Amino acid sequence: MWEFWRSRLSKGKTRHRRRTGSDDDGSLSPMTSRSLGGSLEGPLPDIITGAVPENSTHVYFKDMIVAASDDSEEESEPSERGATNQSGSEANNGKTQAPRKVRKRNRVDRQKLIIILVGLPGRGKTFLCNKIMCYLNWLGHDTKHFNVGQYRRVQKTTSEIQNASFFDPNNEQGLKARHMALMAALEDMDSWLDEDSSQVAIFDATNSTEHRRQLLRNRYHGKRQYLFIESICNDPDILAQNYRYKMMYSPDYKTTTEEEALQDFRDRICKYEEVYETITDRNLHYIKLIDMVTGRGYMDVNRISGYIPGKMVFFLMQVCKAGVARLRKIWLTRHGESEYNEMALIGGNSNLTPAGQIYARLLPDAIVDRVPLTLEGGTMPVSVWTSTLKRTIQTAELLPFPKLRWKALDEIHAGMFDGWTYEEIAEKHSEEYAARKRDKLRYRYPSGESYMDVIQRLEPVIIEIERERECVCVVAHQAILRALYGYFMKVPLADVPRLEIPLHTLIELVPTPDGRMAEERVPFNIRRSMDMPPRTQMEKQFSEMITLSINRDAA
Ligand code: F6P
Repeated sequence: MWEFWRSRLSKGKTRHRRRTGSDDDGSLSPMTSRSLGGSLEGPLPDIITGAVPENSTHVYFKDMIVAASDDSEEESEPSERGATNQSGSEANNGKTQAPRKVRKRNRVDRQKLIIILVGLPGRGKTFLCNKIMCYLNWLGHDTKHFNVGQYRRVQKTTSEIQNASFFDPNNEQGLKARHMALMAALEDMDSWLDEDSSQVAIFDATNSTEHRRQLLRNRYHGKRQYLFIESICNDPDILAQNYRYKMMYSPDYKTTTEEEALQDFRDRICKYEEVYETITDRNLHYIKLIDMVTGRGYMDVNRISGYIPGKMVFFLMQVCKAGVARLRKIWLTRHGESEYNEMALIGGNSNLTPAGQIYARLLPDAIVDRVPLTLEGGTMPVSVWTSTLKRTIQTAELLPFPKLRWKALDEIHAGMFDGWTYEEIAEKHSEEYAARKRDKLRYRYPSGESYMDVIQRLEPVIIEIERERECVCVVAHQAILRALYGYFMKVPLADVPRLEIPLHTLIELVPTPDGRMAEERVPFNIRRSMDMPPRTQMEKQFSEMITLSINRDAA
């Protein structure tokens, strides 16, 4: 690989002065080249500004940007030898050489990925899209969804009826309109992928024939990375459930009765089934999800490698296992008010205040009342996850469910400012205060963490929540819950650090069939409950236990 690039780069005649860490002949010094991740010679970009020499393309190796002489365009220009000969021969006989044709060689843009969904209608493609979008955007990979159905609806003329016969493979008019929608979506996707920040595009359509997939391959092969995700479902119960859900949120069926809509949708699927071909080509990069949502299915993973594709396999394994079939709830709550909260200090590991204890006493009833029933009529199991800090453990103490402590759920680490007030930071370290205000997402406390760090460490928690089929109640901290809530509610990353997650409020999230979450917030009136004596023996013991723990800390 290096030899290939070395030979390619050494062909470049233009030498550019390196800005840092280079020897005078233009090659990288061993130390610099090692620290950049490889050893190469040749024209380099300005490392400070990122500017690259003219006539160069970029090749990215991790953090290193290497500029290579550009042969990716079909050019009609004199070769360098031709140019030398030209001046020489002009001097000799005044003849000019014909320009040499440079053969077109495209490079695959490995920085970006197109995920092409495949599957009949009602196979959970929208669910997958929403989940992948939440996950990748949350991890900082700019991901966008291109849904051909939306283009089809926008292009629809007022008189056009897009019922099942519109999707008939023999309907010329329908085929034409669908092709136009496809092309419009592809063009938008391409323009978006040309933007610097874009990373992953999800192309959401049935893409259910070899012919269609060939069209997509021809468009992207040798230019962009792409992989297919095919969703197959053969379980009649799950399909019936999917179809019913589809009727609830599909814009195609806003004006029809549920019965008519269901019949039309079934007819539409029959039209697709007439021409549907599952992926069989082993040369393709694909992930096939076969009956995964039943919990008894499997995955066929073919020619998948690379960071994001690999992550996709792992993520889909968890997400699809939990599936759309189960109705469960996720509760998020901050701990009850802590002594540090009362004093407006950040971080620490303090106990609950009396108000916080009241919240801990009220929480169990609120959750127990909200536990959903299983299909068999029992109550769904619940597990409670806390951080390892006292205030969350104390808040969860009375919850009558199994508990798990996660270090990953500990509050954002404020480093040298742990135990300070915001006012103190502003006064004594105004530059740090201002830097955090400017970019709260990326600002890292000295010797502490940033929100981005928190998100990275919460990834296993997200994977576990997704994998879980039971209800989960997470009792954690402000920054932690902002990050978790941001994931579930698809909040743009930049807004995550300023989300409202008040004390003494239970947030209930209920997964919807399309992969989103419905939210309800339950605020508690703690002040009103302050004078209430403990009602049960257990609550009494709890208050005594907390008082004991506070006294022990004070001693
Ligand atoms: O103030 C309570 C608290 O949980 C602190 O411990 C933590 O540093 C802070 O909230 C996180 O919120 P923000 O990122 O807005 O400072």
